[in-house]
Amino acid sequence: MTRTRRGRFITLEGPDGSGKTTAARHLAEWLRSRAEPTVLTGEPGGTPLGEEVRRLVLHEREVSADLDPRADALLFAAARAQHTARVIEPALARGDNVVCARYLDSSLAYQGAAYGIDAGEIRRLQGFATYGTTPDLTILVDVPVEVGLARKRRGPWNRFEDTEGERFFEAVRQAYLALASAEPERYRIVDGAGSVEATDAAIRAAVEPLVFGPGPEGGRRRSPAA
Ligand code: TYD
Repeated sequence: MTRTRRGRFITLEGPDGSGKTTAARHLAEWLRSRAEPTVLTGEPGGTPLGEEVRRLVLHEREVSADLDPRADALLFAAARAQHTARVIEPALARGDNVVCARYLDSSLAYQGAAYGIDAGEIRRLQGFATYGTTPDLTILVDVPVEVGLARKRRGPWNRFEDTEGERFFEAVRQAYLALASAEPERYRIVDGAGSVEATDAAIRAAVEPLVFGPGPEGGRRRSPAA
C-alpha cells in the first residue's frame, strides 16, 4: 500500500531499566495489529554499524573502561547517523511509523547532562547526526533510579552499571524530566514503575491521537483511494 504522508516517528526514552525496550515492542505490535505499518528499532543498534558500536561501547570492557567522553559521544552519533539515513528516514518517507527505543535525547541525557559535555555542543552534534530529524512524539518512561537499577541487575552486564553509581543515574533521570518539561508538545511522561500492562496502556493513550486522531496532524495518513 502506498502512503501519501510521512509515517510517525515515536521514540521511547528513560533511564536504564525503565522498560523502554519491552514497551517499544508492545507498542509496535499494537500499531501493526491496527493495520499501521511500523518499523521497530532501537539505539545503539538498528544497523550493522550500530550493533558494532553497541558491542564496543557497552560490552567491550577494554574499550569502554577508558573511553573519552567526546569519543563516546561521537560513536553514539556515528551510529545514529547511519541508523537515521539507512533505516529511519527511508521508513518514514515510505509512510511507515517508526518506534525507536532511545534516540537523540539519550545523548542529551547521558553524554550531555550526566557526563557533563556542554549541552550546546551535544545538541549541535545531534543536529548533524540526525540530519535534523526530530521525533514527532517522545515517551519518557520514568522510573525511580533504584527501581530501574534493580531490574537491570537481573540482565546482562553493561558498562554503565559497572562504572556509574546512583548519582549518575539520578542525573540521567533528572535530565530527562527537564527535557520533557522544556518540550511538552513533543514529550509525554509515562510512569514505568507499575505493571507492564499499565505502562503499555499509558503509552497507547499517548500515541493514539498522533496516529489515529482526527485532522491533518493526526489520523491515518492514507489517501482516500488507498
Ligand atoms: P541498553 O542495553 O539498550 O539499555 P536500555 O535497555 O536501558 O536502553 O543500553 C543502552 C545504554 O547506552 C544505556 O545505558 C544508555 C546508553 N546510551 C548513551 O549513553 N547514549 C546514547 O546516545 C544511547 C543511544 C545510549
